[in-house]
Parts: sequence; structure tokens; C-alpha cells
Amino acid sequence: MAIDKDRVIIFDSTLRDAEQAPGASLNIPEKLEIAHQLNKLGVDVIEAGFAVSSPVQYEAVNLIAKEVQGPIIASLARTVQKDIDAAAKALAPAARRRIHTFTSTSPVQMEYMLKKNPAEVLASAVEAVKYARCVTDDVEFSAQDASRSDQMFLREIVQAVIEAGATTINIPDTVGYATPELMGAMIKDLIENVPGAKNVIFSMHCHNDLGLASANSLAGVVAGARQIECTINGLGERAGNASLEEVVMAMKVRNDYYKLHTGIKTEEIYRTSQMVSRLMGIEVQVNKAIVGANAFAHESGIHVDGILKNRETYEIMTPASVGVPTSRMVLGRHSGKHGFKKRCEELGFDLTEAQINEAFDKFLELADKKKEIYDEDICSILEVGMDKPSNAYKLEYLQVSSGSGTIPSATVKIRRGDDVLQHAAWGDGPVDAAYNAIEAAIGIDVHLDKYQIRAVTGDSKALGEAVLRITHDGRSFTGHGASTDIVEASAMAYISAINHMIRFNETAKKKQA
Ligand code: KIV
Ligand code: ZN
Repeated sequence: MAIDKDRVIIFDSTLRDAEQAPGASLNIPEKLEIAHQLNKLGVDVIEAGFAVSSPVQYEAVNLIAKEVQGPIIASLARTVQKDIDAAAKALAPAARRRIHTFTSTSPVQMEYMLKKNPAEVLASAVEAVKYARCVTDDVEFSAQDASRSDQMFLREIVQAVIEAGATTINIPDTVGYATPELMGAMIKDLIENVPGAKNVIFSMHCHNDLGLASANSLAGVVAGARQIECTINGLGERAGNASLEEVVMAMKVRNDYYKLHTGIKTEEIYRTSQMVSRLMGIEVQVNKAIVGANAFAHESGIHVDGILKNRETYEIMTPASVGVPTSRMVLGRHSGKHGFKKRCEELGFDLTEAQINEAFDKFLELADKKKEIYDEDICSILEVGMDKPSNAYKLEYLQVSSGSGTIPSATVKIRRGDDVLQHAAWGDGPVDAAYNAIEAAIGIDVHLDKYQIRAVTGDSKALGEAVLRITHDGRSFTGHGASTDIVEASAMAYISAINHMIRFNETAKKKQA
């Protein structure tokens, strides 16, 4: 088959680089859910984690390798044998697997982090690539901090790892220090001067410390790189990585200039962005390019007038092209199951009849409280807690009392199968009181690490969505809840995190047995 020289490989690192970011960690089922969505989105490579770094990372890489068919599944590994062994073992079930090995090449990182001289670094890189090639013929080498490395040393190490069998050479701007002109020149120099460079794929991996990650990545592909490593919503270490939606849409919208394409199904971008934001508990900045709430909003009179006459006056791409729902008020109490099902399909959900029935019941409950149901409400219904274990706890009743001059208190009734658990408690506020009552009713003591509440849609009757993270026995679990009552949404989120924890413990017990 002829190689398509204009095709840029999209390597998604949301589950590795973004997941390393403060406050972004995910549990295993959440990682799997995102990996399935990345597959739907059409990414070429999913970097599923850093297998050696913890048992949870290993398990996640291994599960994704087993369950997600289509993309290449990659695991990160330092240039040491135990890392490569762990990556190889975790990736074994994948039909297409890649070992991504890296070491630092800048003077500052070699001296202070690795405590090695350049010759030792080069030797370890060559050895690691050769070792990884015994497991898979798809080996990527990354020269960490390449943009602050000596270009002559970079040429030397890149040549050596190509000779050792690396098939992709990644040139990271690890600290977000590069500029587009310099990044482009660096890639061009390597492609032109390193023997064997034309037989491998050069890759960009740019961080956003100066806000240039997407521009630097695009400069790299203009200079001849054919892979971009990026993340959904641009999440990642510190200021993040190049954002997938930005680089992909830049190449699509400005195809006249770049003349490059990707395999991304751009209509899946918005849903992926929302899913990552919800599961990581990190809100998308409102003015974020492509996926921010304001990305397609027009406010000023002149702009609105232009848009009404012809959208192209102020829009360079349509909201539909990236899957942003355009019709606002779509359904109400009388829309019926058929209309609801059709809208779910339009929003890209592929549901079984049982899931439709469950979601429709929730939709009716919501429609009783809120006359106008928006697309975001439907997404929230569908993505919040549809997959409950059979013995999951369910909030049946919640009553809170709070106000100035009163001590906040809450009473909860929680069902688990035929058992109904009831308790009342005080707290520092209505949410704290509800959490104390839930813990007492269930007989559990968990630690709340993180708690966020947001309005799914903009009006005062908006569905409030609570996202939180609990820890128990050193593991964290995320929970989500949505309701027009934010205390109820918070209680539902708490119970959903507890249900995740139960599901995790049950799976662990089954595995042991
Ligand atoms: O930023 C970086 O250099 C990395 C490497 C591990 C590829 O994330
Ligand atoms: Zn990185």
C-alpha cells in the first residue's frame, strides 16, 4: 500500500501526559471509557499510561490493550529494562502495540536528573531501543527536553536510535520553551542531516508554557514531522500539551495552507472534550478554542447581525463540524420516547434498549422539574451514572435543612437491593451534612479530596452537576451527580463515587479468587 505522505498521525496522550497533571487522575473504568471514546474519535495511537509507574497504571494499560481494538496502544518506559518489561507485559494483549521509551538529552537534565554524561545517555538509549525491538517492531524514542539540547548531540542520538531500530522519533519541547520558527528549523535540520531520517516518522510533543504548543507542533509538521502528540482540551503537565482539537482543526480548516490531513472524526471532538472534562473534573476554559462554551457564541450586535445574514461572516468552521450541539431547546415532557431516542442518536450515543429506557425515566424525572431540556442536559443524563453495579447504593430520599442561624442537618434514605438505610446528621453546611448522613447510613468513612459543582446549562433552572473525588485505602474514585437541586446532585455524586469504589473492590476480590 502506498504511504500517504500528507497524513499526520494523531498520538493522544490524554491518558498519560494529561493524567499526570495535578488533580487530573482517573480510575481504571474512567480510563477505559475515555480510551473507547478516543477510538471513536479516530486517534491513531492511544498512550494508555506509564505501565511501570504503579499497579493502577499497569492495570489500566493492560485493560485498554485488551479491550480497545483499532488504534495502536502505547506505554511509556524510561530507557531501563524493567520499564520496558512492564510496558511489554501490559501491552501484550494489544493487536497493535508500541513501546515509547524516553531519556533526557539537554545538558541540564542529563547532569542533574540522570547524572550521566552524553555518551552514557546515548548508550542507554540505544540499548533500550534494541531491547524494546525484541518485543515489538513499533518502537518510539523520545529525546526529552530536545528543544534545550545541543543540536549536534541531538543529531547523534537520533542517528544512533534509528540504527538501533526506532521507528518513530519524538522531539519534545518538554518545558514549552521553543518558538514555531525554532521548532520548525530543528525538525528540518534533523530530517536533512541525520542518515536514515527519511525512513522514520518524526513526531512533535510540545508543552504550552508560553501558549505556543499548538503553533510549535504545526511548525513541526510543516517542516516534515508526521506525528503530533497531543491531548484533549490541551491538558497536561503544568500549562498542558498541544491540544488535539486545535491542531486537528487547524489542519482541516486551513487545509489550503497545510495540505495535510488526519484520521480524526471531528464531529466527535466536542463529546470527547466534555467526557474528559467531566471525568477528570477539570472544567474547559470558556474561551478555549474549538471546545470552550464561548467558541461559537456571538454577543455583539454587529456580530449577531452578520451571523444571522450569513454564518461565514464571523465563523471559520461550523459548530456541527466539531460536534457542538447547535439546537438549544430540544425536548420537553411531551416529546415522547421516540423523540428522546432520536435525539440521543443525533448526539452520538449508541444505546441499548435497556439503557434508553433507564435514561428516558431520568429524562421524565428531569422534565417534571425543568420544562426545557437542553442537549447538555441529555448528555449529562447519559454520561452520569448509567452503569451501576447491581448492588449499587441509590439515593431514595434526601431532606436538608439550612439557613442563617440554623445548624445545617440532613436526613437520607439510601436503597441497596431490598435494604433501605436511613440516617440523619449535622454538618458545616447542607452538603457536608448530607455527606455525614450518607457515610453514617452506609457505615463507611471516606475522605473527600475534591469537590466541584457547575451549571450544565445557563438558566436558573439549570441542571447542576457535581463532580468529586474520594479516597479510601489509598485509592481514589470519582463520582458524578446531576440534578436541578445542587445538594441532591452533590449527594448523588458522593454515592456514585462510593459505588465506583465498591465495583473496584468487587473486581479485585474476583481477581484474587
Ligand atoms: O514532555 C515530555 O518530554 C514527555 C516525554 C516523556 C515524551 O512527556
Ligand atoms: Zn510531555
